[in-house]
Amino acid sequence: MRHIISPLDFTVEELNDMMDLANDIEKNPAKYAHVCDGKRLATLFYEPSTRTRLSHEAAMMNLGGQVIGFSSAASSSAAKGESVADTIRMIGCYADIAAIRHPKEGAALVAAQHATIPVINAGDGGHQHPTQTLTDLTTIRSLKGRLDNLTIGLCGDLKFGRTVHSLINAMIRYPNVKFVLISPSELRVPSYIRENTLKANGIEFEEIEHLEDAMPKLDILYMTRIQKERFFSEDEYLRMKDSYILDAAKMALGKEDMLVLHPLPRVNEIAVEVDNDPRAAYFRQVQYGVYIRMALIMTLLEVKVDE
Ligand code: NCD
Repeated sequence: MRHIISPLDFTVEELNDMMDLANDIEKNPAKYAHVCDGKRLATLFYEPSTRTRLSHEAAMMNLGGQVIGFSSAASSSAAKGESVADTIRMIGCYADIAAIRHPKEGAALVAAQHATIPVINAGDGGHQHPTQTLTDLTTIRSLKGRLDNLTIGLCGDLKFGRTVHSLINAMIRYPNVKFVLISPSELRVPSYIRENTLKANGIEFEEIEHLEDAMPKLDILYMTRIQKERFFSEDEYLRMKDSYILDAAKMALGKEDMLVLHPLPRVNEIAVEVDNDPRAAYFRQVQYGVYIRMALIMTLLEVKVDE
């Protein structure tokens, strides 16, 4: 039985197969409409979410399956003190696969260790968010045609942003990928990523504070929100919250074929005027998120389509 706790749980080849499957689902949705008939997904969300929960649910329903779950810790037995380990053991009696989001780093791994069904990490604290990364990779590969030879700018809260951590982890496996890490000095990537992931693998990267300086060299600009809920003080958040605002003037400095991605939700870091720029890909990214989660559910459940 397999789980997805980090994007590295799958080889580059396996990810390619999954993305091929996602692209086929995009072209031939009807072929996949019943491959999960009779299967059930449980969504265990101890932290707020719109896209991640609903896209997993939509993915399962598009495959003919059903969905059960809870969307806040307060409405689950966690409020009574039940552990993740106990909850997941029991969920195996109700469902065939589970997606879990939890504020604590490592919660999904604990769940996987006690589960009798495949577990999808839908975000564990400031740590990892592998299905967002699958979404990001699918979007880049589908719209740019490649995952190698790219200069990727990651901008915003690189300290607490789990989508950033997962994406860096995944992208270093493709040849000639360079990173421009754009953040206030207080919100730089954690040192374990700088040292163990980037430097240890000889990846080219620079850390800068001004988005304008990075714009001309980027193939991908990955914007992120300042992660308010992970700050220790409100004052600190207020000081950081307007650090970056991508607007039309900054977009004018970017390459013509650059893509702007964002895991969403957006707060104010991308001005709405950018939405109509053909390079803005964040809403298309949401759609790829459904296709790749369909492919992931099929892969974890070892479901094949009848050809
Ligand atoms: C992200 C998350 O939850 O980490 N959202 C998402 O799943 N698309 C990004 C964020 O909350 O800023």
